[in-house]
Amino acid sequence: MEKNALITGAAKRIGKNIANHLATKGWNIAIHYNHSKKEAEELQHKLKTKYPLQKFVCVQANLEVSTEVDTLLARANDLMGSISLLANNASVFDASIIDKTSHQLFTRNMQINFAAPFFLIQHFALQTEYGCVINTVDTRITTNQNSHAAYTISKKALWELTKMAALEYSPKIRVNAIAPGVTIPPPGGSEDELWEMASRIPMQKPSGIAPILKSIDFIIENTHLTGQLLFCDGGENIGKR
Ligand SMILES: NC(=O)c1ccc[n+]([C@@H]2O[C@H](COP(=O)([O-])OP(=O)(O)OC[C@H]3O[C@@H](n4cnc5c(N)ncnc54)[C@H](OP(=O)(O)O)[C@@H]3O)[C@@H](O)[C@H]2O)c1
Repeated sequence: MEKNALITGAAKRIGKNIANHLATKGWNIAIHYNHSKKEAEELQHKLKTKYPLQKFVCVQANLEVSTEVDTLLARANDLMGSISLLANNASVFDASIIDKTSHQLFTRNMQINFAAPFFLIQHFALQTEYGCVINTVDTRITTNQNSHAAYTISKKALWELTKMAALEYSPKIRVNAIAPGVTIPPPGGSEDELWEMASRIPMQKPSGIAPILKSIDFIIENTHLTGQLLFCDGGENIGKR
């Protein structure tokens, strides 16, 4: 199997860390981005310099636009060869309780966080013989916290899709999910706020990126694993202290 990965939202933050990590493991990477062209190209350049025998390409798509979702896999394939790992990482995280949620905000969260992975998996299954999908959900799916209602519903749906797709596409494609919790501060947020958020979770500190990368390695290496969710949330899914 060719080690060709497409990572959505890979120009920055968690997606960028996943790209850097998979590159160390010999993967060729299609770095998907929407607005972060400069960061995506900087990452591509850095990876090409560090791993000259591997392939790194950038692919742009607005995942809110269905026609762009529908062509993304094919464009990544054309640039890199057949994709064997699809990491659905890109996301929006809009704060809004149900009562204040507009159609526009609801649709944006459902489209980017749920519909885009749904159709990317569909396209992936059409073009690959054997492959692996990793969907990024969120430990919030175990709660009914309403502060980010549309976001949380979109991630709950993505977890349900993970199991359904794992069954439909078995045995040729494995579909699993990871659920981070308090990881890194939101853009513009501070480390202090992050530590405050983590103070009541079982492990009492933010996870950072390492548990996410270890979970991804476990999913890739454990070739009998499908339809599963790995929490990388310091135990938050079992409750707060
Ligand atoms: N950060 C955390 O603490 C945390 C906790 C739990 C779960 N998660 C999950 O982990 C994943 C990564 O989190 P993160 O904080 O690194 O994410 P992020 O920075 O909020 O977003 C990642 C990328 O998503 C892309 N994106 C947003 N809207 C898009 C659109 N319309 N079309 C295409 N791409 C779009 C953006 O790409 P461009 O910049 O190129 O526009 C962005 O860089 C997400 O799925 C998130 O739900 C994160």
